[in-house]
Amino acid sequence: MPETRFLSIRGRKLRLIRYDNVASTQRVARELPVETVVIAHSQTAGRGRYGREWISPPGGMYASIVLTPDPLLPLRAGVAIVAALSAYGINARLKWPNDVTVRGKKIAGILIESNPKKMILGIGVNIRAAPIPGATSVLRETDAVPTVDELIERIIARLLTPRVDAELTRDYRRLCATINAEVLVSMGTEQIRGRAVGIDQRGRLLVRTHTGVRRIHSGDCRHIGGDTFDVGAHPR
Ligand code: BTN
Repeated sequence: MPETRFLSIRGRKLRLIRYDNVASTQRVARELPVETVVIAHSQTAGRGRYGREWISPPGGMYASIVLTPDPLLPLRAGVAIVAALSAYGINARLKWPNDVTVRGKKIAGILIESNPKKMILGIGVNIRAAPIPGATSVLRETDAVPTVDELIERIIARLLTPRVDAELTRDYRRLCATINAEVLVSMGTEQIRGRAVGIDQRGRLLVRTHTGVRRIHSGDCRHIGGDTFDVGAHPR
């Protein structure tokens, strides 16, 4: 049986439902109302972006938050996770659109699914284990390892902090390791290669190619030749 408690954060009351093991918290959250948070100790069919698997053994944070529609949620969520991790001394960055990385290694991923009435924000954070090669975890980066409850509350507090859109995009740009990187972006069958030169007000990636600047709404982005790093880049 799942366990339920309420979280009071920034004047809002969210219902948190905790499972021991589920197929995917995204699947459970789909049936639930706005301001519900589903967390699980492990997942048997965790899902990543582009239909990939998200390996979900015990020791990670697996959460899905049901929210009202917000076109800037991809940016808001990435910035919120980076800010939450900074409380433990972790200097994370964002790989467009919203992979959370430390020294170029993935520490957390975001999957957003939506319908006209709600958005389901799925967050996976490697807390104790880094289940795939080339990834990292909170434990590998710091001794100050948070509990799942502490981490999700920090993330939600940041998500619910009102932010003017222009400030949010400014924070996102400051944290974004993709800007200035040589990138290869796959969008279905099309691939765009060039230099990432910015992020617009709607979170689209601007890529300078040999035919001009392309504005990319969504895609799978690879950095060619490594990440760029700015030391100390954190949202206020
Ligand atoms: C990605 O980087 O590809 C996104 C990974 C998102 C994983 C989280 S874990 C909680 C929620 N439930 C899922 O099945 N997926 C998301």
